[in-house]
Amino acid sequence: MTMTIAVAGKGGVGKTTCSALLLRALARSGIRPLLAVDADPNANLHLLLALPRPEGLGSMREELLEEKRGAVPVEDRIAAEVQRRVSEGEVADLIAMGRGEGPGCYCYVNNLLRRSIARLEGAYRAVVLDNEAGMEHLSRRNVGGIDHLVLVGDPSPRGLSAVAALRDLARELALPVGKAWLLINRPYAAPDRSGTGGLDLPVLASLSNDPSIPGWEATGRSFLDLPAGASAAADAIAAAVPGALGGAPP
Ligand SMILES: Nc1ncnc2c1ncn2[C@@H]1O[C@H](COP(=O)(O)OP(=O)(O)OP(=O)(O)O)[C@@H](O)[C@H]1O
Ligand SMILES: [Mg+2]
Repeated sequence: MTMTIAVAGKGGVGKTTCSALLLRALARSGIRPLLAVDADPNANLHLLLALPRPEGLGSMREELLEEKRGAVPVEDRIAAEVQRRVSEGEVADLIAMGRGEGPGCYCYVNNLLRRSIARLEGAYRAVVLDNEAGMEHLSRRNVGGIDHLVLVGDPSPRGLSAVAALRDLARELALPVGKAWLLINRPYAAPDRSGTGGLDLPVLASLSNDPSIPGWEATGRSFLDLPAGASAAADAIAAAVPGALGGAPP
């Protein structure tokens, strides 16, 4: 079974960084191969994984609708094209969703695309989805079941109320979420307060403002290669993940 983890939160709170650190933690606890999904139209997760920027899957819709029908069935062409657009890594592969659809009628292609992505995901032990700010991608039901919804928030009252709003939206949309988590992150020197402001969410981990995070990013090396002990934030996620997300080695 593939475990699906979706990471969401408000703009700039550290979603992409936390997605990369979650992938690192999963890999370190023996969960591999991994698939990273960049669901932000302004894709940048590839930079933290030191992978080539994958071509977004979204543009496939227009291309398929414009193309003349050929001998190969559309479903097979989509599957081949999805496979072609995978950016392959040693431990984690990456796909990018690209932009949403235009004003045309894409239900048919969308359904086929969704099926193709689901089949691709089935080949991995775990999938980590890095979202744009908000719930756009998740609310468009572009994903199947989500085992863990990780809501990243800074520990300020405004940061926590943004997390509460996302948690409520996930409930309103009846997203198929197994378990929702709060991941406290301080991408800037926010006061080092503990507590969740009354949020009824379990805390996955609490990350400090950690200069080694932007420092490692500046090297251009993959966050998957960040050594143990080099970053308090990375170590905090690595310590939490195997127990919390249920990741014992096979
Ligand atoms: N715990 C941390 N300590 C220090 N810096 C951090 C921490 N977490 C994230 N950052 C830095 O904060 C910045 C924003 O992080 P990131 O890009 O992961 O946020 P995001 O939520 O994905 O943003 P966007 O909404 O634009 O997608 C980056 O420069 C990153 O290095
Ligand atoms: Mg991001």
